[in-house]
Amino acid sequence: MLKPELLAQIETAAAILRRGGVVAFPTETVYGLGADASNPAAVRRIFNIKGRPADHPLIVHLSDKSQLDLWAREVPDAARLLAEHFWPGPLTLILPRSQHVSDAVTGGQDTIGLRVPSHPVALALLHAMGPAAALAAPSANRYGRISPTTAQHVRDELGDSVDMILDGGACDVGLESTIVSFAGNTVTVLRPGGIPLADLEKVLQQKVAVADSTGSSVRVSGSKLSHYAPVTPLEILTSAALWQRACALEAQGLRVATLEWSVPDAALSQNKVHSEHQHIVRSTMPADPAAYGQMLYATLRQLDAARFDRLLAEAPPSTAAWLAVADRLKRASYRV
Ligand code: TXA
Ligand code: MG
Repeated sequence: MLKPELLAQIETAAAILRRGGVVAFPTETVYGLGADASNPAAVRRIFNIKGRPADHPLIVHLSDKSQLDLWAREVPDAARLLAEHFWPGPLTLILPRSQHVSDAVTGGQDTIGLRVPSHPVALALLHAMGPAAALAAPSANRYGRISPTTAQHVRDELGDSVDMILDGGACDVGLESTIVSFAGNTVTVLRPGGIPLADLEKVLQQKVAVADSTGSSVRVSGSKLSHYAPVTPLEILTSAALWQRACALEAQGLRVATLEWSVPDAALSQNKVHSEHQHIVRSTMPADPAAYGQMLYATLRQLDAARFDRLLAEAPPSTAAWLAVADRLKRASYRV
């Protein structure tokens, strides 16, 4: 199914990884920055390239769910059930790690994050590396910045610091995987993401807790509040307050861009007020959470590049289906 040129590039990438190199590759969520998970020196290079603190654990990507027990020493029934249903796919399971897993991958923790990605290029890369190969990979951005959802984003941000960038097009999900912990015999979502809460609950036939995203510990997934931040300051406002705020900022001489999901495209383009406000650029985001999530990071990058002074995002609905988008907007809006 993959084109021959791409297959050849995947072979080259696999050879680079086997020699301890670092390769950026597409997954269905975001682009990852991968190294052979069984090579601590290679894994340490990821941290240098990203500028990420060494105690932040990485997710290990496997080619198949049959490898779960090679990396986790205990797999609760709930975890197995979720792996059966959602792998390959945007779900990361946090489990007690096996003996052989290196501290470089887990940041010294006793647990490990595991997932089987569904992107055909990611799977082909894992298979090309060899039997039971695994890729330790965080998102392929600099620490604290927005995750890349195209190969160009990775080139823009990491350029020559990586050995190779595999181009698999734009990511389908666009936001990171859902991270689930089983600590203390409770199923808890540590980071909302590609798999909606309702889907987890349906499969498990139980309520699933969601960890407080204000994060009291650095060790909890993505708990640093300024994670996923665009360069341009971003505010989240209700639709009622948004336009007034935009005008007030414009009156101060600032260039403003809005991201609005409740206003139909047609209404925006027919908006007469709009043309009188040359320094306010309004854009419509999808009113569907999956579609919104798919384009959020790419939109933020585009708006950053256009050098607005302020971004105003309409607050998403406070329903479970919007958890992942709401979480990323909140983190993007944080200013120290
Ligand atoms: O969709 C994704 O998950 C992407 C693609 C590339 O797979 N990866 C990704 O990795 O978002 P990263 O490193 O940017 O974010 C992974 C998060 C981090 O916040 C990390 O703290 C958390 O997962 N994590 C990894 N292992 C963990 C563990 N053992 N316990 C708690 N959190 C863990
Ligand atoms: Mg990341």
